[in-house]
Amino acid sequence: MKFQEIKNNIYYCGLNDVDRVIFDELIPLEHGTSYNSYLVKGSEKVAIIDTMYPPMSDEYIKNLEENGVSKVDYIIANHGEQDHSGTLPKLLEKYPDSVVVTNPTCKGNIMEMLFIPENRIITVANDEELSLGDKTLKFIFAPNVHWPDTMFTLIKEDNLLCTCDFLGAHYTFEDVFAVPSEELTKSAKRYYAEIMMPFRVMCKKYTQMIKDMKVDMILPSHGPVHKNPDYILDLYTDWTSDKGKNLVLLPYVSMYGSTEDMIDYLSDELNKRGIDTIKHDIITDDLGDLAMALVDGTTIVLGTSMVVAGPHPASVNIAYIASVLKPKAKFASFVGSYGWGGKLFDILGEILAKLRLDVIEPVQVKGKPKKEDYSKLDNMVNTIVEKHKSLDLV
Ligand code: FEO
Repeated sequence: MKFQEIKNNIYYCGLNDVDRVIFDELIPLEHGTSYNSYLVKGSEKVAIIDTMYPPMSDEYIKNLEENGVSKVDYIIANHGEQDHSGTLPKLLEKYPDSVVVTNPTCKGNIMEMLFIPENRIITVANDEELSLGDKTLKFIFAPNVHWPDTMFTLIKEDNLLCTCDFLGAHYTFEDVFAVPSEELTKSAKRYYAEIMMPFRVMCKKYTQMIKDMKVDMILPSHGPVHKNPDYILDLYTDWTSDKGKNLVLLPYVSMYGSTEDMIDYLSDELNKRGIDTIKHDIITDDLGDLAMALVDGTTIVLGTSMVVAGPHPASVNIAYIASVLKPKAKFASFVGSYGWGGKLFDILGEILAKLRLDVIEPVQVKGKPKKEDYSKLDNMVNTIVEKHKSLDLV
C-alpha cells in the first residue's frame, strides 16, 4: 500500500482494522478502527510518530519496506498503550540505529510492559524540541487524556499536531482526510464517551489549548486526519462542557415488563413536560448508544427487576460502567419491581455514590405498578422537572 502524503514529506503509514468489532472488550465498534502512524521525513533525520497494534505489526513493517523506508532515526511514542506502542520492539529490531523518543512516564511504561531496553530510549521534557533538519518536532505533555503518559507531538514548520488518542475516532477510511458526516460525528462521540469522558475536565482544558494553537491539521492516533480542526474541536467543546442537556436517561432491565411499564410512564410524562428522554433496554440495546447518551444526560433513572433479593446483575453492570465513565449528570434515581422481597437499590446507590449525584426518591413496586405507584412516579417527574429548571441546561 502506497503511503498517502499528508503534507510536505509527512505521510500516513498506519492501518485500518476493519474486522475489529469491540474495543477494550467493552464498547462495540460500528466501523472498525484505524491505528495511525505517521512518517516524517526531515532533511537530515527520519521519524515515525506512534507505531502499530501488535497483531498487525508484520503488515505494518512490510508496508514500510515497500515504501522504501530503509532508515529511521527516531520513533516517537506519544503513549505507552499497546495499540500504538506494541510494535516498538519489532521496529527497534528492524531499524537498529533508531531510538524511541518519549516522556519519562511513558519510558517507564514501555520498559515495563514491552521490555524496551533503556539504552534505546531518549526522554524529552515538556515543550522540548527535536530537530529533523528542516522539520522540528515539539513535544507537549498532555497527561490524562487519557493515560498519565500521554503527550502530543507538534510538527512545527507544518503546524500539524499529532494528538495521540485525543480527538480520535474508531473509524476506517481509504482517504486519510476526514469528511465530516453524521456517521463520523457519531463514531467520534462514541469514542469520546468510552475513552475520554472519564477525563472530561482535562479534555476541556486541552481542547481549548489546541484551539488557541490554531494548528493547520489534527493527526489523531485513531480515525481520520482533520484538515478542518474546528470540526472535531467544536464537538469536543460541546461534549466537555459543564452544561448538560435537558435530557433524562432511562436504562432498564425488565423481566416481566413491570419495570418497563414504569420506564415508559416516566418517559411519556417527562416528554409531556418538555424534557427529552432516551430509553435503553440494557439487554438488547447497544452499550455504545448508552455511553453516547451519558455524554449529554442530566438525570439518570436506572430501572431494574429483582433477581433473588437484589438488583438484576445487568443493572449493576450499567451502574458500574456509569461510575467509570464519569458522565456530567447531576441527578439519579431508581425504579424497579420485585416478586417476593429484597433490596433493589442499595448496591446500585453504592456503586453510583462516587459520582456524587443528587439522588431523587426511588420507586420500588411489587409486581405491576398500581395507582399509588404511579403517584410516586408523578412525584419523581415533578422533582426532575424542578431540578432541571434550577440548572442552566442546553
Ligand atoms: Fe489508542 Fe490509549 O490507545
